[in-house]
Amino acid sequence: MDLQIENHSGIALVTIDNPPVNALGKATRLALADAIARLEADPAVGAIVLTGAGKMFVGGADITEFDRPPEEPHLPDLIQQIAASSKPWIAALHGTALGGGMELALGCHYRIAAPGTRLGLPEVNLGIIPGAGGTQRLPRLIGVEAAIPVVAENRVVTAGQDAEPGLIDQVVQGDLVGAALTFAAGRIGQPLPVAASARPVSATPEVWTAAEARIAKASKGNPAPLAALAVLRFGVENGAEAGLANERMVFLRLRASEEAAALRHLFFAERAAPRPADLRDVTPRTLTRAGVIGGGTMGTGIGAALLAAGLSVTLSERDEAALQRGLATLKGLVEAGVKRGLITEAQAGERLARLSGTVGLAAMAPCDLVIEAVFETLEIKRPVFAELGRICSPDAILATNTSYLDPRRIAEGLAHPDRFLGLHFFSPAHVMKLLEIVPTPDTSRQTLATAFDLARRLGKIPVRSGICDGFIGNRILRRYRAAAEDMLRQGVPVPEIDAALRAFGFAMGPFEMQDMAGLDISWLQREAARAQGETIAVQPGDLLVLAGRKGQKTGGGWYDYVPEDRKPRPSAEAARIIAPLVTGNLSLSPAEIADRLVATMAEEGRAILAEGIATQPSDIDLVEVHGYGFPRSKGGPMFLTERRGRGAHGTSAGSGYRQDQGRGCRA
Ligand code: 3HC
Ligand code: NAI
Repeated sequence: MDLQIENHSGIALVTIDNPPVNALGKATRLALADAIARLEADPAVGAIVLTGAGKMFVGGADITEFDRPPEEPHLPDLIQQIAASSKPWIAALHGTALGGGMELALGCHYRIAAPGTRLGLPEVNLGIIPGAGGTQRLPRLIGVEAAIPVVAENRVVTAGQDAEPGLIDQVVQGDLVGAALTFAAGRIGQPLPVAASARPVSATPEVWTAAEARIAKASKGNPAPLAALAVLRFGVENGAEAGLANERMVFLRLRASEEAAALRHLFFAERAAPRPADLRDVTPRTLTRAGVIGGGTMGTGIGAALLAAGLSVTLSERDEAALQRGLATLKGLVEAGVKRGLITEAQAGERLARLSGTVGLAAMAPCDLVIEAVFETLEIKRPVFAELGRICSPDAILATNTSYLDPRRIAEGLAHPDRFLGLHFFSPAHVMKLLEIVPTPDTSRQTLATAFDLARRLGKIPVRSGICDGFIGNRILRRYRAAAEDMLRQGVPVPEIDAALRAFGFAMGPFEMQDMAGLDISWLQREAARAQGETIAVQPGDLLVLAGRKGQKTGGGWYDYVPEDRKPRPSAEAARIIAPLVTGNLSLSPAEIADRLVATMAEEGRAILAEGIATQPSDIDLVEVHGYGFPRSKGGPMFLTERRGRGAHGTSAGSGYRQDQGRGCRA
């Protein structure tokens, strides 16, 4: 049932009932259209209260419909009919009113809300703009300056807290619907308030200039936020009627854009990730006490993430000095949250009260989760698990944060191996959203389900990975870097490759990234493999490391750096050092460079899928977007290449993709 209507002494109570989020799909819109017409015509109805069943008012338009052409009845028309009704419509809001849900409320004559109701227009996150009057009604209700962050910058306001006057007429403790019916009774036969779209609105030129600069900076690659601002402005300058027509036109254009398709793809992938279908029947264990072994870069970040999720954390180090360093770092991470305005002093204090430190592993005995983040060698990791296996309870979850080692080898000989798995966090672990979950053949379903549940509590995007060198993300990274180096050997200059990837939407290119992380890390891995007898040809990175150029930390790597400045400067010296390995004179356009490298990522992704390492293509996209900076508005390498395979689009706008063909050769 999409809509229920009850009569309460001349007041119609209309309840939208379309679980899980009361999305305004076609069936719901049809029912609403019918209700609007019937209630308007019914002389026995004096006022209408509109509310949502379950835990929220309305989560928005039905996003699953956006891959198809819009179907009647259209939401903006329904909202317009409500706004033009001769009877008062009162929106009774609770939980959330998002997107089309908030716009529906804006079209009503009054809004009454439970305290804590969250109202927002998150359409720009989906590469679209509010398309049912939000860009026009909101500024006329709360003013342009307050409306811009909601319309174009994803600001969510909360009833009873920071919602501007003009948005909510009454905040109601207790019985929301009862209060709304009482409110409605008092409005029957009274003059209706001036419709939102008929109210005066204006803004100074400075407001537009400041907003435009701010939004342009924050919304790289996604055209929607600037479009939302422009549409809002157009309506302010040309009147609501023209504004609404323009809003609809721009909404429909963006709805059909590649960026919107990519962002929708990620929306659904992100929603599905924490709840794998094959684990829905498994009850996860409740985790409260966590241990983290190793207080270095990863251990401290993981500790901060666990504290933020409400667990108590015991950090273990090798000796007292290392422990004090680790605890100080972890404390600094929590306190940085206060400085950045993310948490209050009191919240930080409460988190730190749940933190303790220890030397050695004995204090891990009562933990129900222990995550190991010590040095990346089997010789150091295995004794840690051997001891944990002895002292922890048999059902305590034991996890390794290894990047490249085989978790099966780390856990060899461990008693109760069903409670062991890999939890691969990304640095900085309290910030990065990605968590690769790596079960071994022995890991139980309950351990796996508990890991997904933990990810949900941590606010992470979990992706299951099978065991292979580098799991999903680092394996693709290795291939991507190799392809970039191959391109360089064929003659494409390092700065051109990096600039092309930046233009594509990455924060930095592959060589800049290596300079930041340090070239010696992968060099050491290659050296170790060579020492084991593996044949690995000399690579450009080897030559740079041997010449003392390990990246930013040594003042030079692929690029030169000046002290206190991280800006990469093209390096004649680096070019000279690697020159013996550059054998071609290939020339590629920026779009061709990006296309080739993304195609390589997708090719590795397909191999990963074929081997069963990843479960579905969207998991690979989530890994790339949340762990490696792949631009959101392009959806991920699998999504992008699949779209391209369907014919219409190159990976880079206007690139005219030509597989494996350079523009020509440098003379
Ligand atoms: N349309 C279709 N499905 C939706 C949806 C929507 N608007 N919002 C959520 N869903 C689905 C999810 O995909 C998920 O499906 P699944 O169970 O099959 O995986 C299910 O509903 C539950 O979603 P969540 O797990 O996210 O539920 P929560 O309770 O954690 O969160 C929410 C609820 C805050 C409403 C959150 O789902 C959300 O942010 N949704 C998107 C809101 C949004 O972007 N609205 C704008 C839509 S565009 C629009 O309105 C255009 C208009 O201007 C014309
Ligand atoms: P790190 O060198 O910063 O920290 C390791 C810490 O472990 C050191 O403080 C060391 O004193 C401590 N330690 C060593 N042996 C110990 C023991 N027996 N008991 C207690 N503490 C001990 O290393 P980092 O970068 O934090 O890496 C840790 C693990 O995480 C490695 O396996 C690494 O591969 C993995 N990882 C690293 C990422 C990164 O970006 N740095 C990303 C993802 C995983």
